[in-house]
Amino acid sequence: MLNIPLMSNNITEDDKRVLADFILHSDRFTNGPKVREFEKAWSEWLGVKYSLFVNSGSSANFITMAAVREMKGAGEVILSPIGWSSDVAAAMTAGFTPVFADVDLDTFAMNEDAVIGSITDRTKAVLLTHVLGHDGMSDRVRAVCRDRGIVLVEDVCESHGALHGGAKCGSIGDVSNFSFYYAHHMSTIEGGMICTNDADMYRTFRMFRSHGLLRECDDKAYAEQVTTEYPELHPEFIFMLPGYNMRSTELNAVIGLNQLKRLDSNIEKRQANYRIFLSQLDPELYFTDFREEGSSNYAFIVLLREAHTGLFPKLVEALRKENVEFRRGTAGGGDLVRQPFVRKAYPEIRPELLPHAEYIHKYGLYTGNYPDLREEQILALCELLNGIKE
Ligand SMILES: Cc1ncc(COP(=O)(O)O)c(C=O)c1O
Repeated sequence: MLNIPLMSNNITEDDKRVLADFILHSDRFTNGPKVREFEKAWSEWLGVKYSLFVNSGSSANFITMAAVREMKGAGEVILSPIGWSSDVAAAMTAGFTPVFADVDLDTFAMNEDAVIGSITDRTKAVLLTHVLGHDGMSDRVRAVCRDRGIVLVEDVCESHGALHGGAKCGSIGDVSNFSFYYAHHMSTIEGGMICTNDADMYRTFRMFRSHGLLRECDDKAYAEQVTTEYPELHPEFIFMLPGYNMRSTELNAVIGLNQLKRLDSNIEKRQANYRIFLSQLDPELYFTDFREEGSSNYAFIVLLREAHTGLFPKLVEALRKENVEFRRGTAGGGDLVRQPFVRKAYPEIRPELLPHAEYIHKYGLYTGNYPDLREEQILALCELLNGIKE
């Protein structure tokens, strides 16, 4: 049996030792100086001015969409059917109408013509998801968003380190979201980050993270101005926004700081694994012509070619038999418009109008790629996949 899990050893002995040491020698564990330190280090790594540590990638999505709604008002958000449920849920709960644009098969990211063709006077944001490590950025979409005052949000939750034109994905749009969930490029056990260069947005994110409280905003001049407008309120308790509590803790930040030290070398290892995988996979049977430039692979994509789609049940059976852990579709389970919460809210959305998302949903899956994976495991996996026959 091959016995390949989706992820292994993501929280190392060293992480545990650093965490234990921190616990023994500290007495402040809630959001504090370590969170600040991690946010600063993350901003430096990414190349942005501001980062805000939250308790998950989904929380990053929810705060981002709530802030966009606050700043831009109601309207439509263009997003991908291939992403994660919270991309859609965040847009919906912020009061936006989601508009889905189909994806390209070489990146699994939204097709730029489909995005541009979906823009209307009601469009407030484009939520662009970088899928499984691919660079999904489009210069044309970016330029149109800039010209029309549309907020460009990058969801980089599963693509840390992907590059677009030499810049890190997540530093290009107006705001970006990262996840540090267990199997991702780096982990804080649970955690996420919201990043931006825009001071006004950052101020709004900070307040949304902590109950909508003015005192969290980190902008003294603004806080003083607002405080004088509400003389009847106690300055410590001015709730400016319908906020959440989505803070993380010092403990998670300590792990994040330690993990950040090996993020770049881990990304290199994942990329090297991915190159071996793609070079060994049978290109007649599977798609292997994904856009590699700028990619920071998250997982091995197994997508059957049109002529062999009938093999999908055998593929699933073979992986199960060898105890190779996998997920069908993509990280979000494939075509999100098929999910009950979307269908219930928008019964008029027809999956067949998103043929590539449907194709990935039906004939795609992924297996784990992580630094500890050994070359012989990758070769054995490819042998198994290539051996699946009619
Ligand atoms: C694209 C994308 N967005 C958002 C999330 C949510 O992140 P989290 O699991 O940290 O809430 C994920 C989760 O894996 C994801 O892949």
